[in-house]
Amino acid sequence: MAKETHHITYEVFTDPAELPAGEASLLEQAAEAAGLAYAPFSGFSVGCALLLEDGEVILGNNQENKAYPSAMCAERTALYFAGSLGKGAKIRKIAIRGFSESKDVTQPVTPCGACRQAMLEYEQLAGTPFVVLMQGASGSILRVGGIDGALLPFGFNIEF
Ligand code: THU
Repeated sequence: MAKETHHITYEVFTDPAELPAGEASLLEQAAEAAGLAYAPFSGFSVGCALLLEDGEVILGNNQENKAYPSAMCAERTALYFAGSLGKGAKIRKIAIRGFSESKDVTQPVTPCGACRQAMLEYEQLAGTPFVVLMQGASGSILRVGGIDGALLPFGFNIEF
């Protein structure tokens, strides 16, 4: 038996002005995208902004459905939109914001497992670790470097 340890390093910012250049703006764009979410069932609106290598920003938000499991998260809406434009390999940074109708969301909004798996695929296409920025409606910002390296250890990554 061998015991192994996986360490994750991440940053926590309380002041968006201290983020690297352009990242506060990316979080703002994610918040704007959340404003267009279709979330009448959960009352929880999520926005996602993808920064591409050439500076283009692609937005997405959650889209719910009366048939609940047919809904789609903000992150995968944005990722698949980028992929459908042939730009999946150009993604470099991902910003996520979330807002509740009923309370102030002060925790960072971290992506669900399925969205992390989708991020892993595009990170591999891009060939470079993504920066992921996560924030609620207010409160601190989590900044993580790498899907494979930090957000999704042991993701599905089998060669076949
Ligand atoms: N949601 C996202 O858009 N992204 C996540 O990472 C987790 C949850 C959405 C799905 C649903 O529309 C609402 O938030 C409540 O779960």
